[in-house]
Amino acid sequence: MQSKRRTPREHRRVGVCAMKYQIVIEDTGEQYPCDERESVLEGMARLGRRGIPLGCRGGGCGVCKVRILSGEYVAKVMSRAHVSAAELADGIVLACRVLPGSDLSVEVTGKMKKSVCRPL
Ligand code: FES
Repeated sequence: MQSKRRTPREHRRVGVCAMKYQIVIEDTGEQYPCDERESVLEGMARLGRRGIPLGCRGGGCGVCKVRILSGEYVAKVMSRAHVSAAELADGIVLACRVLPGSDLSVEVTGKMKKSVCRPL
């Protein structure tokens, strides 16, 4: 029998518990759990600290740019105005448009770097 990995949508439909992954922000050393059905930005927001930019949450404003250093993820469609094809190939994505598929190591970049990396 062949096993097939379920997509997040299939998990919701059949009521299967979602996998939780650990996300590490390499710039600050912070870690947080992130459900495979939520975006990397949604999980990051639960850190509950200042400096996490919660913009449009839909790929429109470009404030949540991160570079995925390691791990698997699903990147939803994102605007070329904010992430070029070359950036995407280099692992740069909008955190609000990415779902984790394994534990991830990320580095904040772009507009988000200044606010996330400033001293608390
Ligand atoms: S929050 Fe606006 S692009 Fe991610």
